Amino acid sequence: MVDGAMGPNPVWQAEALADLMRFEPGMRVLDMGCGAALSSIFLAKEFGVEVWATDLWVKPDENLRRVAEARVESQVHPVHAEAHALPFAEEFFDVLISIGAYHYFGTDDLYLGYFSGFVKAGGRIGIVQPGLAEEYETLPPPHLGPYWKWDFCAWHSPAWWRRHWEKTGLVTVEVADRLPDGWREWLQWNDACDLASGTPDREEAQMLRSDAGRTLGLTRVIARRNTRPLPAA
Ligand SMILES: C[S@@+](CC[C@H](N)C(=O)[O-])C[C@H]1O[C@@H](n2cnc3c(N)ncnc32)[C@H](O)[C@@H]1O
Repeated sequence: MVDGAMGPNPVWQAEALADLMRFEPGMRVLDMGCGAALSSIFLAKEFGVEVWATDLWVKPDENLRRVAEARVESQVHPVHAEAHALPFAEEFFDVLISIGAYHYFGTDDLYLGYFSGFVKAGGRIGIVQPGLAEEYETLPPPHLGPYWKWDFCAWHSPAWWRRHWEKTGLVTVEVADRLPDGWREWLQWNDACDLASGTPDREEAQMLRSDAGRTLGLTRVIARRNTRPLPAA
């Protein structure tokens, strides 16, 4: 797990989706931005689903090695693809998930319209990623200033994601919340990885400790693809 770490623990985040989403044997799942495919392997082993483990930065042969070690080659298919050029047929999947990744490409207003086309009507889309308790107008809160990186601007609150998706009329958002204790789990996993690397208390851990869940956490959004777009109000 530590070797494949790329952020908050992907298996804990996958569990947070599975708490509220149905995964059943044989279901086709797209794990978009799967990184080291740890969430894909977990879902295949735990629920017997078939997963297309799709990522840009991590090479599919590297993921195939991990998948083979986990003995789920027949269930997890590593795919190299950019999020805007997915090599799948429309409505191929029963479920779409994205863990720690959707904010890299999905804040574009038009992205959900493309992405949601890959799930069957009535199918579910679930994402979890770093996020905020609420939106801030301009600068980050002063206590986060020393740690702030420009790309954190893609971290958003549950309310922001709800509006971002619902305004398309393509999905019905069933859940948009912060994972209970998400920041503590993020920090706990961060500490474990820092310890394993021999460099404890790196910058991200310091940031999470100084914030103590006031602003930062893990945002979860689950939606169902509408059978047809909602009519305008
Ligand atoms: C922080 S990592 C998270 C990986 C993994 N889901 C996890 O939780 O460990 C973000 C992932 O998003 C993927 N990603 C970012 N932008 C992407 C894009 N435009 N198309 C496809 N994948 C993308 C990267 O390849 C990377 O593996």
